[in-house]
Amino acid sequence: MTLLDFRGKVALITGGGGGIGRAIADAYAQLGAAVVIAERDAQRAQSVREYLEGQGAECLVIEADVTDSKQVRSLAEEVEARFRKLDILVNNVGDSLGLVKPFADSSEDEWDSLYAINLRHVFLVTHAMLPLLRAAAPGSSVISLSSVEGLRGYPLGVAYAAFKAGIGAFTKSLACELGPEQIRVNAIACETTETEQIQIVKSVKLEHQPYVPRWFPLGRYGRPEDAAGAAVYLASDLAAWVTGDTILVDGGALAQGGWRQMRDGRWTNSPIIEDAHRGYGPAKT
Ligand SMILES: NC(=O)c1ccc[n+]([C@@H]2O[C@H](COP(=O)([O-])OP(=O)(O)OC[C@H]3O[C@@H](n4cnc5c(N)ncnc54)[C@H](O)[C@@H]3O)[C@@H](O)[C@H]2O)c1
Repeated sequence: MTLLDFRGKVALITGGGGGIGRAIADAYAQLGAAVVIAERDAQRAQSVREYLEGQGAECLVIEADVTDSKQVRSLAEEVEARFRKLDILVNNVGDSLGLVKPFADSSEDEWDSLYAINLRHVFLVTHAMLPLLRAAAPGSSVISLSSVEGLRGYPLGVAYAAFKAGIGAFTKSLACELGPEQIRVNAIACETTETEQIQIVKSVKLEHQPYVPRWFPLGRYGRPEDAAGAAVYLASDLAAWVTGDTILVDGGALAQGGWRQMRDGRWTNSPIIEDAHRGYGPAKT
């Protein structure tokens, strides 16, 4: 159990006011870490501050947009002034921006927006926090939120998938550079997880709900705590020899590949002709 004792550690979670980021912040705080949150949304920042303070956690919640380099610089200054070091950086912010459309119809502005919210800030924040991560080494670590969409083809989400895949390459390359300093760099790739951004359970029609238990091998969509479990492991000494890795948190979705379970429980990789779940993109009539 002492391997999961985070007392004395300082963790920064970007976008920690909601969804997966908030679950990670909660888990780290429960293990005794001091938690810093950079959150763009004022109400979510206030809500997570009240929650963490109510739990008796040491926390610093800063309203900031991590895509803005000036705000990221002052974030680093605030962490330095208060804690002098950073043991765990979680680059959690990311968003598909609801852009689900054929690549041919996507625009330069949309690619730029997807880059800013999914990859550029990972460079920006990690770069700014590096001196503080070095101050906490050996044993400090960076964890970034990727997606299963960065590991498989994502029709109608080409640019989002490309930037999430970029997180994997960032992770591997930086892990090589920082390994000799005993700073580990890893990523987490989630399948669809119920959060403020992805309100999946609500979006599945009532008559389609019975399909969900056989949609993934583990029979349900993700919960923010699922990703938080991986984030605890990666930040802990249990993962002392793990770096450059992207951990799948996907209920077995990628293992299943093209296989699907039919209504009667048998498995098939043939087309299933039934009105299951929801579809993306225009329907062919
Ligand atoms: N939910 C899923 O199904 C899913 C699946 C795969 C990967 N992911 C990845 O996991 C991460 C978290 O996803 P989520 O679903 O919890 O997202 P979310 O939108 O529910 O929560 C993200 C939080 O970040 C904040 N935020 C957004 N932009 C910000 C910015 N520029 N600066 C500071 N804070 C900002 C938001 O206000 C929000 O509180 C993302 O990187 C996402 O791509 C999510």
